[in-house]
Amino acid sequence: MTASHQPDRVLIFDTTLRDGEQSPGATMNIKEKIEIAHQLARLGVDIIEAGFPISSPGDFEAVRQIAMEVEGPVICGLARAMEKDIVRCGEAVTAGKRPGRIHTFIATSQIHLDKKLRMSREKVIETAFEAVKLAKSITPDVEFSCEDAGRSDWDYLVAVINAAVEAGATTINVPDTVGYANPWQIGECFAYLRKHVKGAERVVFSTHCHNDLGLAVANSLAAVLNGARQVECTINGIGERAGNASLEEIVMNLVTRKDFYGLTTGINTREIYRTSRLVSKITGIRVQRNKAIVGGNAFAHEAGIHQDGVLKERTTYEIMHAEDVGWTGESMVLGKHSGRHAFKKRLEALGYDRLTEDEINRAFERFKDLCDKKKDIYDEDLFAIVEDEMSKAQETYSLDYVGFSSGTGTVPTATVRLRTGSEVVMDASVGDGPIDAAFKAIQRITQVEAELQEYSLEAVTGGRDALGQVAVTLQGNGQTVRARAASTDVLVASVKAYLNAINKLVALRDVDREIAVPKRGL
Ligand code: KIV
Ligand code: ZN
Repeated sequence: MTASHQPDRVLIFDTTLRDGEQSPGATMNIKEKIEIAHQLARLGVDIIEAGFPISSPGDFEAVRQIAMEVEGPVICGLARAMEKDIVRCGEAVTAGKRPGRIHTFIATSQIHLDKKLRMSREKVIETAFEAVKLAKSITPDVEFSCEDAGRSDWDYLVAVINAAVEAGATTINVPDTVGYANPWQIGECFAYLRKHVKGAERVVFSTHCHNDLGLAVANSLAAVLNGARQVECTINGIGERAGNASLEEIVMNLVTRKDFYGLTTGINTREIYRTSRLVSKITGIRVQRNKAIVGGNAFAHEAGIHQDGVLKERTTYEIMHAEDVGWTGESMVLGKHSGRHAFKKRLEALGYDRLTEDEINRAFERFKDLCDKKKDIYDEDLFAIVEDEMSKAQETYSLDYVGFSSGTGTVPTATVRLRTGSEVVMDASVGDGPIDAAFKAIQRITQVEAELQEYSLEAVTGGRDALGQVAVTLQGNGQTVRARAASTDVLVASVKAYLNAINKLVALRDVDREIAVPKRGL
């Protein structure tokens, strides 16, 4: 009997790499996606939706490589109900040792039928049937989704799902694509579908909720209470617009309130915090401090009366333990005398166990440099260093030199020298301040037109010698990218972050534009 058939087991379908990547600016490169996929496997998710293979060569390659090298979870790819999508997706998800999953979808709400697809109800049913049949001829594991199910007519949903089940779908997903539903409606809808779909007992019903009204987690749990046995979710709840249901919140609800739900998952909750941090670092999307489960304040007790209670007996004010989600607090980990071996071991403990020797060497050099400037090195510092090194994987331009002149009564000026291939190019510019001047000089050298949308600076740890981490969001060529960089010199961190973002835009322009399929708007 497979996990999917155990009535009290909820399958966790992680779509951080697909729907999560649709958050504006969350674009990841292949290496970053593979890194996250390995961590998701350690976390114990059942299915990883690794991408949308037809959407770009980069997405195809990421899904294919993840299928080849990530063991444990089933690897899934998304495909519209179209032959070319399904065939391409099949090529990617079947590249591994075991067959992966094809997830095909078509919209079912009247508004999508009339305005987007311009198809009749009958045509959609026929298309769904053919799509699933084709997918089934490629892999036995086929998921079918009724896009915008949250606004679809229930009897029509039954008709479309009947066709998908008849064609061989093994998982039926009922997404609330626009985050319109509420827990009561979703619960009733799942109960209705399970009662009326022919062969409902042969398939796994799945829920996929968006968070536009802040109900994604509540809606997913309502579906689970009404028989859904797969939940589609993302780490930190990232995703299109207001995001998807957050994996950590779903899982910790099921764990903490097992008395109520009586259900289990295969998640190793102690990997939650590490996964959350990795996704945040790689995507550049910060976790808000008061976010449930993984926010900086999630386990902090501020009020005296609470602190007093917790000291006397933890359960007075704590329903979960921080350690259960793998939060160990900010601890001083390494210092000047730590060797390469200890450094590598600590990186492994933080989830970076797939770095090449060359990457470890470069990160170790950065670490030693940092030890000369900073007394105590924390995990946060290591994250910042490794993140900088990882972003170099797609570096077209690297920083060779930057110099600034600024102060009161001086026109702020920056001189920047960049390397690209064997060439070294230098330029200088004036600006509203030294950072603005350096950004302008970089634009002149790289000729990449980009608009700075966000700039933020924060200290990675406490202390006057802390690393400054700069995050920038750039928009250029119809794409939004985020990038970060850290240095004890905040001007240098700013220049590096900006250059990382420019490199991301260049990589997207070069690699990802061969097949024009809009990623947004699913
Ligand atoms: O939200 C949605 O409807 C989706 C589908 C493609 C499953 O992401
Ligand atoms: Zn979605």
